Amino acid sequence: MDFNGEEPNIFEGISTAGTGNGAKVYLETYGCQMNVNDSEVVASILLANGYSITQEINEADIILINTCSIRENAETRVFGRIDLFGQVKKNKPSVIIGVLGCMAERLKDELLEKKKIVDLVVGPDAYRELPTLLRAAESGQKGVNIMLSADETYADISPVRLDKYGVSAFVSIMRGCNNMCSYCVVPYTRGAERSRDPQTIIHEVEELVRNGYREVTLLGQNVNSYSWSESKGMVKHTVNFADLLEMVALVSPFLRVRFSTSHPKDLTNDVLYTMAMYENICNHIHLPVQSGSDRILQLMNRKYSRNSYLNRIQAVREIIPDCAISTDIIAGFCTETELDHDLTLSLMREVGFDFAYMFKYSQRPNTKAARHLVDDVPDEIKSRRLTEIIELQGKLSEESKKKDVGKRFEVLVEGTSKKSDDFYVGRTTHNKVVVFPKEASSIGDFVLVEVTSCTPATLIGKIVDE
Ligand code: SAH
Ligand code: SF4
Ligand code: F3S
Repeated sequence: MDFNGEEPNIFEGISTAGTGNGAKVYLETYGCQMNVNDSEVVASILLANGYSITQEINEADIILINTCSIRENAETRVFGRIDLFGQVKKNKPSVIIGVLGCMAERLKDELLEKKKIVDLVVGPDAYRELPTLLRAAESGQKGVNIMLSADETYADISPVRLDKYGVSAFVSIMRGCNNMCSYCVVPYTRGAERSRDPQTIIHEVEELVRNGYREVTLLGQNVNSYSWSESKGMVKHTVNFADLLEMVALVSPFLRVRFSTSHPKDLTNDVLYTMAMYENICNHIHLPVQSGSDRILQLMNRKYSRNSYLNRIQAVREIIPDCAISTDIIAGFCTETELDHDLTLSLMREVGFDFAYMFKYSQRPNTKAARHLVDDVPDEIKSRRLTEIIELQGKLSEESKKKDVGKRFEVLVEGTSKKSDDFYVGRTTHNKVVVFPKEASSIGDFVLVEVTSCTPATLIGKIVDE
């Protein structure tokens, strides 16, 4: 799953007429794609209740921050933002400040007590209550709901889209996580895993296609354990992830389909065959490995070994010969030795990941690792190992990009390049970013691009005819 734990997403200004007094909401989002999609659900609920969305913090009547707890620095960043919102409130005491998302779930009391600034604390399963809680806050009470739910999937809510170009959208297909990886806070902040009714997913995707979207990314913490059962008369019908992926791919051949995140223990060949069968399912799998050492994988409670991970990679290579593979890696988990670390490096070389998100282990309170293991790798060693991992991945990513030079790829035009107005930016099926001169193309087009060179982060190319 993509991360921008420390860089916020901020909503463009949107407003609708309504009865909820038109109060202006500024909404800032941290964390994973699911959080970004949750903010779209939040915006949808607020707009339906007559609130409006602003991107000007100083104009806001209500400031909401959708937060992430995955690593300590993600939380530190949010506390910094809350302090800044406190300054805004000093100048405008009527402003309501609300904390949503994973930190709300984990740190309710601390947020309400230590931070006198905060009026509203709402966990990820309680967003339907936001209008009620906001009314409570407006009347001077604290608005709090961090109840986790066994069945909330916001299935019937059509999210207001955050992306400004209307090309690519996230669609949550499930919520929560049952995996209990020992380092991870998500099962505590997001609750138990639950899958969303496939019909509501298909309706949402169809609506996106009608609205001109050309790409969807199906989201879940572990999409491979998606499962929906329904009894029709005497017959029980189950939809698994491979089935769902096929249903989504069939909505339109002109819609690109991506998904994230796959757990190596649950990635079945069925999913790979479905990917191979449909041209519009992108050839990219994000398969977080975390570590190359069996001993560490066991302590992490990941439920696969180095060998079984490599077997999955082999299956990907056999079934989808031209598939990009990316991963997540944690450096310096409890008791990690130089040998364990070397095993991570050697696994990275063996797989040749196209891309990776790499992190220093950050102990999260109350997780299994925090309760039963000692966070004993000194910070400078964690940093050195992380640097080695990043340097190696830099080389692997560069090799992966160099292989693309001279080749042609279908690219979805997703927006204008940040560096130059004369260039568009898009992605290949492999999820690699390509920058190219605009010529006659438009945002939302599929164009054929020949890659002419690359930088460490980007492919550079030009549009060519068939
Ligand atoms: N559900 C996904 C990812 C969720 S969190 C999965 O299982 O792969 C995204 C990534 O953050 C994880 O893959 C892991 O690499 C990293 N991460 C999670 N908890 C962490 C922690 N306590 N310290 C450092 N990195 C962590
Ligand atoms: Fe966290 Fe593991 Fe669940 Fe991913 S699969 S969200 S790492 S507990
Ligand atoms: Fe962060 Fe919560 Fe996502 S902890 S990574 S926002 S599920």
